[in-house]
Amino acid sequence: MVKEIEIYSESEMIALGHRIGKLLDKNMVIALTGDLGAGKTTLTKGIGQALGVESTINSPTFIILKVHFGRMPLYHMDVYRIGPDSGDDYLEEYFEKEGVAVIEWAENIAHLLPDSYLGIEIKNLGGTKRAVRLSGNNPKYEKIIESVIV
Ligand SMILES: Nc1ncnc2c1ncn2[C@@H]1O[C@H](COP(=O)(O)OP(=O)(O)OP(=O)(O)O)[C@@H](O)[C@H]1O
Ligand SMILES: [Mg+2]
Repeated sequence: MVKEIEIYSESEMIALGHRIGKLLDKNMVIALTGDLGAGKTTLTKGIGQALGVESTINSPTFIILKVHFGRMPLYHMDVYRIGPDSGDDYLEEYFEKEGVAVIEWAENIAHLLPDSYLGIEIKNLGGTKRAVRLSGNNPKYEKIIESVIV
């Protein structure tokens, strides 16, 4: 299933993340794709808010994984600098732990991703306008997509 929504401001992006975050469960994986500055971290901030995270969500390029503690752990990954041969296969352990994983530049670790995940692709349409495309191939993610985009 694939559905798309247009977003017109940063605060709307955070609100979208919040709506998604409220529906997340242990072991869920969110694969974010989109160019530099598309809004991946901004969306993750909303997800974190919904999970009750109080620590700051950002994505310094030299940090691959940051664990935030809320209602359940949020494993926030930024794999911009990671490739198939960079020895970061340990990351896949986090897909089976107690929390949810949100991965920026997820295409870089396509070989580590589980069979099903919630894909979120963000496109910058100019100014503060963004197209956000949600995709999922498993009922648990399709349910989220359907309730987030009506
Ligand atoms: N509708 C919008 N949604 C999200 N961010 C927006 C929007 N409009 C403007 N912005 C701005 O775009 C930037 C998005 O930055 P953000 O760090 O979320 O992007 P990113 O995709 O994580 O980039 P990077 O690949 O560098 O990690 C912010 O400066 C934000 O203020
Ligand atoms: Mg980012």
